[in-house]
Amino acid sequence: MSDLIALACALPKAELHLHIEGSLEPELAFELAAKHGVTLPYADVEALRAAYDFNDLQSFLDLYYAGAGVLRDADDFHALTRAYLQRAAADHLRHVEIFFDPQTHTERGVPMEDIIGGIRRALLEAEAEHGITFRLIMSFLRHLSEADAIATLEAAKPFLHRIDGVGLDSSENGHPPSKFERVFALCREYGLPVVAHAGEEGPPAYIWEALDILQARRIDHGVRCSEDPKLVERLRAEQIPLTVCPLSNVKLKVYPDLAEHNLKGLLHGGLVITINSDDPAYFGGYVNDNFIACIKALDLSETDIVQLARNSFTASWLDDAAKARLLAEIDAVHAQWQTAQ
Ligand code: ADE
Ligand code: ZN
Repeated sequence: MSDLIALACALPKAELHLHIEGSLEPELAFELAAKHGVTLPYADVEALRAAYDFNDLQSFLDLYYAGAGVLRDADDFHALTRAYLQRAAADHLRHVEIFFDPQTHTERGVPMEDIIGGIRRALLEAEAEHGITFRLIMSFLRHLSEADAIATLEAAKPFLHRIDGVGLDSSENGHPPSKFERVFALCREYGLPVVAHAGEEGPPAYIWEALDILQARRIDHGVRCSEDPKLVERLRAEQIPLTVCPLSNVKLKVYPDLAEHNLKGLLHGGLVITINSDDPAYFGGYVNDNFIACIKALDLSETDIVQLARNSFTASWLDDAAKARLLAEIDAVHAQWQTAQ
């Protein structure tokens, strides 16, 4: 098993489901709180980390939005993103597609320019330093109104050349994709590709809506598709990727235990499954940690691991030439690993 873990860690990979606000480690949260003279309601880093014990998505989101309150200027967003990208480089990530939640920050008075500017500065640095390419995805908060999402899209208009796509996240139950039909139609008119969180806590019907009403090209989570065989067949036939986040699903009690997760079954069923970290600072690990936990709990094979790494690139928004180059790199690292066995 340790050989398979070494293979998974060494393979070049992409991460396609990462909320940059969810990469805020307690150490940085305290550092930024001190910088801005903000008092966090926890004695120290250990006390904050100990609070990362969730019953469901909402109990996590309450802490996640409170934590994001220490992000106040462009340098904060830069420090946050830079720290994530250092972890990404250590995990052999070669490409990242990152969500940011502008509404969490603009409603506190942080200008859109500072949010995007700070994140982008770190992304460009990591591209130069580590060769990590990137896409930036603006995500709308589904617990807020569609009018609020439309206003956010309007505010983002001067920066649309910096945004590669749009997503939908936050509290899922009671906030179906259909609530956002008009804003996503506008996004598509602006040429922005769409992804959406669906079927994390919400029912399979939300995945159908994300596909048919929002015209999502990729589904974030999507694990509840298993409850609807027709939906699983559609995801397979149309090769619509699912960005699965195993440690997140256990932390938020979507699954009681990783051993019960359906990702291996879906992968063997021919779906384009990818492994991602979601909110790594809160859920106990980055991409390699997710691979390691899945290898242990689900007994993933060599073929599974290589397929998951391949899927991370095929499901990305890289162009065909870049995909081909990275898939060839996977083959090279895999061959090297085989020779060493
Ligand atoms: N925002 C950050 N993480 C999320 C998740 N797992 N589901 C929905 N919204 C989120
Ligand atoms: Zn997510």
